[in-house]
Amino acid sequence: MPDAVYVHDAFARIADRYVLTNHVLSGGMDILWRKIVTARIKKWQPARLLDVASGTGDLALEIQDQCPQTEVIASDFCAEMLVHASNRGIAQTVVADALNLPFKDGEFDVVTVAFGLRNMADYPGGLREMNRVLKPGGRLLILDFSLPNGIMRGPYRWYLHHILPHFAGWLTGEKDAYEYLGGSIEAFPSGKGMTDLLESCGFHDTQVTPITFGVVTIYEGTR
Ligand SMILES: C[S@@+](CC[C@H](N)C(=O)[O-])C[C@H]1O[C@@H](n2cnc3c(N)ncnc32)[C@H](O)[C@@H]1O
Repeated sequence: MPDAVYVHDAFARIADRYVLTNHVLSGGMDILWRKIVTARIKKWQPARLLDVASGTGDLALEIQDQCPQTEVIASDFCAEMLVHASNRGIAQTVVADALNLPFKDGEFDVVTVAFGLRNMADYPGGLREMNRVLKPGGRLLILDFSLPNGIMRGPYRWYLHHILPHFAGWLTGEKDAYEYLGGSIEAFPSGKGMTDLLESCGFHDTQVTPITFGVVTIYEGTR
């Protein structure tokens, strides 16, 4: 699992370029992925939502815009990332380690984490904390990268390890961070691996929805 100091410092270094780089590297698809997640949340109409590892607040902002009745709190352990969330209009930001959240048990109706769990040093530890701060019956929604199945898998992995680090390195000057990205996607549980992990951390009614040929997947679970 990733090293917390490496992850924190890498995001602190790329914080100013993070939003634009994401849009360029995903061809704008990251905007669509966050809209799909937000559409699900809109149906639930939660009163309080915590976006863990919120970074520059892209998902939290979309939820705040689309769900005006929801109190949205964005947390991240990297203050350099979170300051952008605040400057972009997230009303409540909290600098906090997802492995030790400064919230009481059962404070939230929904917890979201987009491209964040994969970067944590302890996946079960992060999931158990998200479970703890959810109300009984509250929903967790994870959006993260995965590997496509079938004929797309080989070419995508080749792109991930041989093209993306060079292109992203040229764009950002941080080739290492994008070599780390490919490795972190390979190591991250997906499909049944993830639902088994969710269930071992106290979630039930788990669901898996691959999107964009399985390049990303949405996972859900209920506390
Ligand atoms: C790829 S960014 C995702 C940001 C945002 N959720 C998004 O969708 O663009 C990953 C974020 O996870 C945060 N992160 C990684 N480990 C964390 C931890 N243990 N506690 C809190 N934040 C963490 C990083 O600081 C970074 O901002």
